[in-house]
Amino acid sequence: MSVLVTGGAGFIGSHTCLELLEAGYEVVVVDNLYNASQESIRRVEEITGKSLKFYKVDILDRDALEEVFEKEDIDSVIHFAGYKAVGESVKKPLEYYYNNITGTLILCDVMRKHACKSIVFSSSATVYGDPAFVPITEECPVGGVTNPYGRTKFMIEQILKDLYVSDHDWNIILLRYFNPIGAHESGKIGEDPKGIPNNLMPYVSQVAIGKLKCLGVFGDDYDTPDGTGVRDYIHVVDLAKGHVKALDKIDDMKKAGADEVKIYNLGTGNGVSVLELVHAFEKVIGRSIPYEIKPRRAGDIATCYADPTKAGKELNWKAVYDINKMCEDSWRWQSGNPNGYNE
Ligand code: WQD
Repeated sequence: MSVLVTGGAGFIGSHTCLELLEAGYEVVVVDNLYNASQESIRRVEEITGKSLKFYKVDILDRDALEEVFEKEDIDSVIHFAGYKAVGESVKKPLEYYYNNITGTLILCDVMRKHACKSIVFSSSATVYGDPAFVPITEECPVGGVTNPYGRTKFMIEQILKDLYVSDHDWNIILLRYFNPIGAHESGKIGEDPKGIPNNLMPYVSQVAIGKLKCLGVFGDDYDTPDGTGVRDYIHVVDLAKGHVKALDKIDDMKKAGADEVKIYNLGTGNGVSVLELVHAFEKVIGRSIPYEIKPRRAGDIATCYADPTKAGKELNWKAVYDINKMCEDSWRWQSGNPNGYNE
């Protein structure tokens, strides 16, 4: 029996495949490599000394996906595959809705045809929009999303909830990530964004290696302790281990029968500001990171961090790594791989 990981060659996907292999799972990956490199898969196998099955398949290609389900004995699915750039989604809404939502509809239909009804979905804290309260619990209102990317996550959550209502045989877990950063401690796998990074940590680390000249800090006039945006940065390895725990929960749901769609925030519960992250990174590399204060970025919110109590109680999962470890591991990956997976 295997776990199918869609988007398994990506940043969070590859780290999750590594933890799944270490936990003894058989892993099958489908990835169209639009925003990922197959090199990440090779390195996951190198680190673990274990092998996985990789198919260069786009989940929009129903026939190719059918073939994978026919060839492999898929027991459950962890679904990462999707476009994820907030800014790009504003410029290309049709592509985002088609790719993320239609891809998920095809995946679920093929799963159903092959009697595979267990799925862990990669959702995002972005579904909370500008949160009604912090720390954010799973009961915090959702839907006030400000961009097409975030709306695809919100809509897919609704689709999966409707799927469960139509057929209680489905075991469905939604994992709402906060801000994943860091890298596996080997320094062999990590975040490898295409072009100029949208997100803070990859931008900071590219300034640190001299690929980019200066960090722009998007606003220092927010209602936060130092005026810069506060987020719940979570180590990607902690996040990956959360997916292994979610599969354990899926097993319980299969045995006892799922009584609802399960939703969990995967965050540390600690809010860290832009400048706090920059200073933590400076401490790791032993020199300063040049930055300048810029105007606020459209769509940004002041503060967002999790209350991870529910995942602690129900998944027996808790993030263990702090911001310094996240910076150390990010730096080891970036300094060892200045061009990411491109040799
Ligand atoms: C973090 C903070 C910025 C870049 C997004 C998505 C979310 C998830 C993670 C996909 C903010 C500031 C950033 C820069 C800056 N993505 N910043 N200069 O916006 O919290 O979340 O990425 O799953 O769904 O919404 O992350 O890293 O872009 O920004 O000052 O060059 O860093 O203003 O306060 P964000 P981020």
